[in-house]
Amino acid sequence: MPIRNTNYSYGSLSKFFHWLCATMVIILLVVGFFMHDFSDIFRGTAYNLHKSSGILLMVIMLLRAIWMLTNPKPTMPSNTPAWEVFFAYLVHYAFYVLLIIMPLSGWLMSCAYGYPPNFFGLFMIPFPGITKNVAFAEIMHSVHLIVAWCLVCLVSIHVLAALKHHFINKDNLLLRMLPGQKN
Ligand code: HEM
Ligand code: HEM
Repeated sequence: MPIRNTNYSYGSLSKFFHWLCATMVIILLVVGFFMHDFSDIFRGTAYNLHKSSGILLMVIMLLRAIWMLTNPKPTMPSNTPAWEVFFAYLVHYAFYVLLIIMPLSGWLMSCAYGYPPNFFGLFMIPFPGITKNVAFAEIMHSVHLIVAWCLVCLVSIHVLAALKHHFINKDNLLLRMLPGQKN
C-alpha cells in the first residue's frame, strides 16, 4: 500500500494518523468527562495521563496537518451531492483546528491553575509566559469544555456519515480509510 494519498484513496500514513488520533480522542473525551469522579488513588494518575497524552496528541496533530497539506485529498464518490462534500470537508478541517485548540486550552488552563503537565512523569512542560492566574484558567476551562462538546457533536455526525456511506450508499468511502484496503 502506498504511503502517500492518491486522488482516490488514503495512503498508509494518513490511515495510521486517522485511527491513532480517533482512538486517542475518544479515550481523552471519555476520561476527561469522568476523571473528576475517579477515586483518590487513581485521580492524580488519570489527570497526569490525560494531560500528557493530550499534549502528545497536539504534536501528532501538527505532524498530521503537515502531511494532510502536502498530500492530495481523495475526492468523494462521484454521486455525492455538493452540499454533502462541502460539509464533509468542513468537518474534516474543523477536526484539525479543534484538535489543536483542545490541547492548547488544556495546557494553558493547567499552567494557569498552577499545575503544569508532567509529561508521562519525565519532565515538566510549563507554558512559556504563563504564571498562576485563576481567572484566566477558568476562561480556558470553559473553552476546554465547550470545544469538548463540539467534538462530541462532530464525531457523532462524522461516524454516522461514514456508516451511511457504507450501508446506504454502498460506496467505498469507509473501506478506503481501513488498513490494508487499496480502494
Ligand atoms: C484533544 C485533547 C483533549 C481532549 C479531547 C480533552 C478532553 C477533556 C474533557 C472532555 C474534559 C472534561 C471537561 C470538564 O468537565 O470540564 C477535560 C478536562 C480536563 N482536561 Fe482535557 N482534553 C484534552 C487535552 C488536555 C490537555 C493537553 C490538558 C493539559 C495539559 C488537559 C487538561 C485537562 C484538565 C486539567 C481537566 C480537568 C478540569 C477540571 O475538572 O478541573 N486536557 N478534558
Ligand atoms: C474522534 C474520532 C475521529 C476523528 C477526529 C476523525 C477525523 C477525521 C479526519 C480529519 C478525516 C479527514 C482525512 C484526514 O485528514 O486524514 C477523516 C476521514 C475519515 N474518517 Fe474519521 N475521524 C474519527 C473517527 C472516525 C470513525 C470512528 C470512523 C468510522 C466509522 C471514521 C471514518 C472516516 C472515514 C471513512 C474517512 C474518509 C472520508 C473520505 O473518504 O473522504 N472516522 N476522519
